Amino acid sequence: MSETIHIKSPHEIEIMRQAARIAAGARSMGRQAVQAGYTTWQIDRAVHEYIVKNGAVPSCLGYEGFPAATCVSVNEEVIHGIPSRKKTVRNGDIVSIDLCATYKGFVGDCAGTYACGEVSEEARKLIRVTREAFFEALHYARPGYRIFDVGGAVQAYVESNGFSVVRDFVGHGIGRDMHEAPEVPNYRPDKGSGLRVGNPRLVKGMTICIEPMVCAGDWRVKILKDGWTVVSADKSLAAHYENTILITDGEPEILTMADDLMA
Ligand code: MF3
Ligand code: CO
Repeated sequence: MSETIHIKSPHEIEIMRQAARIAAGARSMGRQAVQAGYTTWQIDRAVHEYIVKNGAVPSCLGYEGFPAATCVSVNEEVIHGIPSRKKTVRNGDIVSIDLCATYKGFVGDCAGTYACGEVSEEARKLIRVTREAFFEALHYARPGYRIFDVGGAVQAYVESNGFSVVRDFVGHGIGRDMHEAPEVPNYRPDKGSGLRVGNPRLVKGMTICIEPMVCAGDWRVKILKDGWTVVSADKSLAAHYENTILITDGEPEILTMADDLMA
């Protein structure tokens, strides 16, 4: 990833809004397909068709060889689950949907975890805390703060609720590329941790993805043999919530909320 943080012009921001609106709508479509008896492949179809119908391109499809438009991750799967005709969603499952849409050269990216039918109390709390962690972090997504303040807010909120934040995957800047600088960890890197990510100041015109990835148990993850699916190492439940946001002079603007305030 290039180190350069691309500050977006008003014209670029307008296109980002459009791309993000399509991504948000696609997330709603995916969410509606989280139903007992649906396969994760059918969830992907719903997302993919919506993106294409709206004149955008599903940016995950083919990204580093990923074979679908949508990452669909069930229960202990954290991120990057591959949709499959053989994987049926059941009552009691939690399903994470993550997708990107490219429109007129700019990318919108969002994710969310949704319950299928009646889920455990732990699952409900995990979904809620993961989403709330994003909104906690949003308070720090403005000029005057730095990237680690954002991640620190996610971590503090998640850990105070008895859950853990994934360390091995992080949020990111976004624009013409799905992943731009800066990296946006969901934790405050310890001094001397060896982590090389920078801690830039937030400035107006930055577009970033804040995406808490939360485990009910330990934060350690592993990657399955398919080379993609990231699962919690202890097989505890995991949840993900992500929006593309714009840093402004004041309140950040959530770009991927346009169609679905309840996402
Ligand atoms: N949307 C994911 C993110 O938040 C990336 C998906 S990986 C892909 O960064 F291979 F599916 F594209
Ligand atoms: Co992302």
